[in-house]
Amino acid sequence: MKPPSATAAPVFKKIAGTAAAGRPAFDSTKPPSVALALVQRRAAEAVLAVLSGNNADAALARVDTSAFDGATRAALTDLTYGTLRFLGELRAIVRQFVHAKPEPLIEALLWVAIYELAHSKTAPHVIVSQAVAAVEAVNRGAKGFANAVLRNYMREPEAALAKAMEHDEGMWNHPTWWVERVRREQPEWWEAILRGGNGHGPLTLRVNRRRATVEQVMAAFEAKKIEAEALSDAMIVLKRPRPVERLPGFRDGLFSVQDAGAQLAATLLGAKDGMHVLDACAAPGGKAAHVLELADCKLIALDVDGERLKRVAENFDRLGLVGEVRAADAATPAPWWDGVPFDRILIDAPCTGSGVVRRHPDGKWLKRDSDVEQLAAQQKRLIDGVWPMLKPGGRLLYATCSVFKPENNFQVDAALALHADMRRIRITLPGDPASASGQLLPGGNRKTHNHDGYFYALLEKIAS
Ligand SMILES: C[S@@+](CC[C@H](N)C(=O)[O-])C[C@H]1O[C@@H](n2cnc3c(N)ncnc32)[C@H](O)[C@@H]1O
Repeated sequence: MKPPSATAAPVFKKIAGTAAAGRPAFDSTKPPSVALALVQRRAAEAVLAVLSGNNADAALARVDTSAFDGATRAALTDLTYGTLRFLGELRAIVRQFVHAKPEPLIEALLWVAIYELAHSKTAPHVIVSQAVAAVEAVNRGAKGFANAVLRNYMREPEAALAKAMEHDEGMWNHPTWWVERVRREQPEWWEAILRGGNGHGPLTLRVNRRRATVEQVMAAFEAKKIEAEALSDAMIVLKRPRPVERLPGFRDGLFSVQDAGAQLAATLLGAKDGMHVLDACAAPGGKAAHVLELADCKLIALDVDGERLKRVAENFDRLGLVGEVRAADAATPAPWWDGVPFDRILIDAPCTGSGVVRRHPDGKWLKRDSDVEQLAAQQKRLIDGVWPMLKPGGRLLYATCSVFKPENNFQVDAALALHADMRRIRITLPGDPASASGQLLPGGNRKTHNHDGYFYALLEKIAS
């Protein structure tokens, strides 16, 4: 097969990172269990699997990592997520150095290599020689081409990045339709939203106050030299991410992983002892568990997805909580509702996830503009379907992890227009400049309130 052509002659020069530094994709100080070239190849395969519709976890599960040890698997995940985070600029950069579109796996290997050159601490000559070897293994004839592309990029990386940034996708590392939508819907906050979406979410824990205090959990971490900061009487942020199962106290149910924005839901819902509570979209159970940690209420954790519901039961079990777990469509009450109205209902609705792309950068490339209206229709069906089950004077908390208005304020405005007995209760979301509208910006203020882009609206049924 004829190799795709590249522009200009190859020159090699060591470069510094060109844009916001990410985590190192491959730790060159430790001997890897396999060659970097193989890790790059698997990352390129995983990125292509995402672009053909798989989420990143499914994509990583599909690639062959049988020769990888744990550290190399972690490096593969970093490389894949990093490439997806910066895919807009990487695609725009590679396009500058090729005359004809290379075959997909080779193009993806170039994205991965340029991601590493720009955003990791691995020595550039290692990245390039390994990426060229990886390309050669795919198509021997493309070796010179790949070498030329990478070396041309390395000659003037800042210029390549500046050129990539001339267009929305290269500038913001989000699809063009996404940038246009946020710019249109959130004229005041669109840049903060997109920038926040390209950041990294910290590992945030919620202490199960039925089992431990923040001080006890912090002491256990300190004993193991795990650096962490307590941000409230229930929230701890780890200085460095690590596998949560290995943290002392996790298996004993002393805490759960939960973003700071998600931790607001249970308090906003305000369930009290003895209340009858419905979590209409409960799986995997993060918010339902929090509600039960705060109040002795009778909670039904419902979800339409029976498979995902298993996680709810596991979480309740680990945390020592009791709630009824049921697989059903919340908007069709007849098969499961006993007719006793609820004091509190939480709808943590299925949504685009546009507010959590800093943790799930694959989401940026998996969603289509048309998904927004489709999901909005599902959300409307859920709100209208559960509203009759709410007691007069009762409260429904509507939540999404989206920053798109049709899923958020437009949705709530439509519900208020339709239901004469619905009113919106003013809520305060601490530490976020945009929060008057119920919207948290991804990244928040990055210090005391570093959260995902959640949306909350508290709706009360007017007692006649
Ligand atoms: C954002 S997730 C919920 C996350 C969960 N509240 C938590 O904190 O762990 C949305 C959930 O809604 C569920 N879902 C979607 N349509 C539903 C329906 N009609 N009835 C019940 N659950 C539904 C999905 O299966 C998914 O698990």
